Amino acid sequence: MARVAVVGVGAIGGVIASLLHLAGRHQIILCTRRPLGQLIVRTPDGEIEVAATNLTDDVLASPVDWVLVATKTYDTEGAARWVEPLASAGAPVAVIQNGVEHRDRFASIVPQDRTLPVIIDCPVERHPDGLVVQRGSVKMNVESGALGSEFAKLFIPPDGWDERTSKFITGSLGGQVEIGFQNYTVTIDQTDDFLTAAWRKLCFNSAGALSALTLQPAGILRDPEFARAAADIVDECATVARALGAHLDPAIAQQVIDGYRAQPFDSVNSMLADRLASRPMEIDARNGVIVRKGESLGIPTPLNRLIVALLRAATPPTPPNASA
Ligand SMILES: NC(=O)c1ccc[n+]([C@@H]2O[C@H](COP(=O)([O-])OP(=O)(O)OC[C@H]3O[C@@H](n4cnc5c(N)ncnc54)[C@H](OP(=O)(O)O)[C@@H]3O)[C@@H](O)[C@H]2O)c1
Repeated sequence: MARVAVVGVGAIGGVIASLLHLAGRHQIILCTRRPLGQLIVRTPDGEIEVAATNLTDDVLASPVDWVLVATKTYDTEGAARWVEPLASAGAPVAVIQNGVEHRDRFASIVPQDRTLPVIIDCPVERHPDGLVVQRGSVKMNVESGALGSEFAKLFIPPDGWDERTSKFITGSLGGQVEIGFQNYTVTIDQTDDFLTAAWRKLCFNSAGALSALTLQPAGILRDPEFARAAADIVDECATVARALGAHLDPAIAQQVIDGYRAQPFDSVNSMLADRLASRPMEIDARNGVIVRKGESLGIPTPLNRLIVALLRAATPPTPPNASA
């Protein structure tokens, strides 16, 4: 049995906790800012009540075997206060967030070789009453190697495979774990080219800013004018990515547009969800990083720069004494 702490139990943290619960052999510690009466995750197979200990004060945190961080990137400072004691005996830290700077965010407190960047795709939202609604399958991407393999194994049911499990392919390098439930799957891909995987996801996320700006769901990209704008935003991101060594498909912009168009018209991305809830947005992690990296490489990124400025202007001021 491993002691696994989840720091930040919103949409993604809720899904991760439910998967750990289904693995059935962990002591789960949910680290939150406010007490969590119960954690219910409504999956495509029905509701799961996660059996876990809840901590709300990082002073009470003690070393665990794995730390899984699932806060928004703008809450890194608060998350780090949990990570420090939880990982103080050498536990690896999986950073399950958007963007391309997972390691940098915790570099001052966790050695690089103990940090595992994780990219996740999952249609999920959290409701104000704490309910987490997961609408489909979970796809995660990690670097290949020992840490990636150990992370994937956390989600595997204990005694081999039961009727919920359809497939398990693994290898220390470039392996894949796929767990099949009745109406959804959980796939954990281990890739030798994580840089490309992370920037490909950022290409998708960069265009999502159009939703946050217009307060419109994914359907906005069915409009040809917005699709054209999205393509230009993605092209800036892809140019920076390629200069950094990512191998992106020449048709990445069209793939992003097709991806948004394949989503239900009313799909709300997490940046739009943040804006609608008057929370901060992951502006820097999703669009600001393209501007910053572009600047350092001499690549102009005027559209992403404009997006950053507009979204910052649309961000409600942080009330005095509130944590950002
Ligand atoms: N939602 C999606 O569909 C989706 C899909 C792919 C990737 N992602 C990425 O996954 C990451 C997590 O996103 P999310 O949608 O799960 O965010 P979320 O629903 O906003 O959840 C974040 C959680 O972190 C908690 N938190 C913040 N600071 C904390 C602290 N100091 N201590 C403990 N808990 C803290 C928040 O607590 P409060 O409840 O107190 O605010 C919240 O419950 C982001 O990088 C996001 O971009 C999300």
